[in-house]
Amino acid sequence: MMTARRLKLAGALGLGLLALTGCSNNDNPQDTFGADGHYSKLIADLNWVYIAAIVVGVIVGVAVILALIKFRERPGAPVPKQVHGHTSLELTWTILPALVLAVVAVPTIATIVKLNEKPKQCMTIQVVGQQWWWEFSYNNGVTTANEMVIPAGEEVCLKITSRDVIHSFWVPRLNGKKDAVPGRVHDWYIAADNPGDYWGQCAEFCGLSHANMRIRVRALPKADFDKWYQDQAKPATTPTEAAALRGENIYSQQCASCHVIKGAVDAAGNPVDFSKPVPLVSGAAPNLTHFASRSVFAGATFPLYLDDPATPDIDESDPYTAEHPILNRPRLEAWLRNPSANVPMVPDDERGMPNLHLSESQIDDLVAYLAGLK
Ligand code: CUA
Repeated sequence: MMTARRLKLAGALGLGLLALTGCSNNDNPQDTFGADGHYSKLIADLNWVYIAAIVVGVIVGVAVILALIKFRERPGAPVPKQVHGHTSLELTWTILPALVLAVVAVPTIATIVKLNEKPKQCMTIQVVGQQWWWEFSYNNGVTTANEMVIPAGEEVCLKITSRDVIHSFWVPRLNGKKDAVPGRVHDWYIAADNPGDYWGQCAEFCGLSHANMRIRVRALPKADFDKWYQDQAKPATTPTEAAALRGENIYSQQCASCHVIKGAVDAAGNPVDFSKPVPLVSGAAPNLTHFASRSVFAGATFPLYLDDPATPDIDESDPYTAEHPILNRPRLEAWLRNPSANVPMVPDDERGMPNLHLSESQIDDLVAYLAGLK
C-alpha cells in the first residue's frame, strides 16, 4: 500500500519536473519563459515570484502533513489542545501572508504600470479580432491577416479591438495578454528585440475555432520591413496566365463580396466594387491583396508554403527568404473545397468561410490566381 503510494508520488513529482523543463525549452514557440522583447522580459523578471510561491507552498504542505500525522485519530487519544481565540497566533497568520503579498505586489504593480506606458516613438498597428482570425492594419492603408509584420528592435503600438465577441491578443514571447473587446480600443505595446518569428494565440474562448485563432508576428530587419511596407501598399499583381485570369474572374463573382483584393478587376475589366455589404455576421473577411506574400492562412493554422524534405538545409516554406517557395497546394485546395472541414466553423450561421461548392477546375483557377498575389 505504502509502496504504491510512494510510486504515485514519485510519478507526480517526475511529471511536474518534466512539465517545468518543458516550459524552459526555447524550441517551444509560445514559451513565456523564452521572452524576446523587452516587454515580455519585464514579465519574465517577475518569475522569482514562483520561487516565493514554492517556498510558501512547501512550508504550508509540510506543516499540514506534520499536523495530520501528529494529531491523527488514535484509540484513547485525548482531544488535542484547542487554539480557537488565540490572539497572537491569529495575528501572526493574518499579518505574515499580508506581508508576503505586499512584497509580491510592489514589483508586480510597478511592472503593470511600466507595461502600460506608451513609448515615446512607435509604429501603430490596428488589431481586430474576429471569429476566427486576426486583422492587422497599418497607417499607410495596408491591411493584412493572420501574419503581423513588424520592424525588429522598434516599438510597436497596438490598438486592439474586436468585431464580434471577446478575443485576447497574446504573443507570449513579446508581451502578456490584452483582451480584444467589441466597441472598445485597448492600447498595448510590443517590441521584438531581434528579427524572427513569434507565435501567438487567441487567449479568450471565442467559439468553435478559438484554438485555431493563431497569430504569427514576423519581425524583419528594418530595411526588409521598409521594403515589405512599401510593397504591401501597392495594388495586387495583375495576372497574366490564362488560369490566373480565370481565377480573378471567379474571385470577382464568388469571393469579392467578402474578401478585398485591392486592384482586382471583374470579367469586363472594371475594378471590383468593395462597397457592398458582405453577408457575414461581422461584415469582414481577410484582405487577400498580397495573399501569396504571407507564410500562413486560415487563422494562421496552415503554412502557405511547405518544406521539401529532400533539401532539409533550404527553407522553402519561407516566402521572404526562399527563392522558390513550395506552395501548400493540397491544403489550399482542400480549404477552397470545404473550409469547415479544415477548421471548425459554422458557415450556415455565417461565422467563418462558407462552402462555395466550387468545381475542381474553379479551385485550380483560384489557386493559380491566389498564388500570384505576391
Ligand atoms: Cu478568438 Cu479565442
